[in-house]
Amino acid sequence: MTSDIIIEPIEEKHVEGFRKALDIVARERKYLVFLEAPPVEVMLSFVRDNIASGHPHMVAVDDGKVVGWCDIRRGARDAQAHCGVLGMGIIPDYRDRGLGRKLILATIEAARVAGMHRVELHAHADNLRAIALYEKVGFRHEGLARDAIRIDGRYMDSVLMAMIFE
Ligand SMILES: CC(C)(COP(=O)(O)OP(=O)(O)OC[C@H]1O[C@@H](n2cnc3c(N)ncnc32)[C@H](O)[C@@H]1OP(=O)(O)O)[C@@H](O)C(=O)NCCC(=O)NCCS
Repeated sequence: MTSDIIIEPIEEKHVEGFRKALDIVARERKYLVFLEAPPVEVMLSFVRDNIASGHPHMVAVDDGKVVGWCDIRRGARDAQAHCGVLGMGIIPDYRDRGLGRKLILATIEAARVAGMHRVELHAHADNLRAIALYEKVGFRHEGLARDAIRIDGRYMDSVLMAMIFE
């Protein structure tokens, strides 16, 4: 079933679908630092900047519907321009079928081609599925930020993981 899903670089035509997917995952209140999607104009300028600046940003599209995304934003300052920060999500019905692995591998490859040296990410410490995926594709644990997340009054640790392109 995931074989029919296309993974492709984001374009402006995907913005509404990307926003919808992000909003669904954010409103689950379990996985992201967003608890709802930002307004569409904020999403549009985020996507436009990713395209113009060459920040890798892939979407998974099923029959025209955006069902997942993965982006890696390059550091804005000179001394961090070799580093990217990764974020991703897949809407519920499309999880646990290998799509996350395909999506992250395609985006990491784009970061490598773009000349990045390091990709890092943060995950809520209880997000075992995401952490397992990140470990499987080569991310290593670098640290734990205690109580870095607070959702509905509950504090949670956040793990820092990173991959270095040799
Ligand atoms: C995290 C996410 C991107 C993973 O994508 P996915 O398509 O569901 O995951 P995949 O099927 O590609 O792979 C997950 C891997 O972790 C394993 N896994 C799943 N749950 C696990 C658990 N609790 N413990 C250990 N391993 C687990 C799976 O077996 C699979 O490994 P395999 O490829 O060797 O079989 C997706 O589930 C998602 O978007 N979740 C909600 C949002 C989110 O968490 N975003 C990331 C924020 S940091």
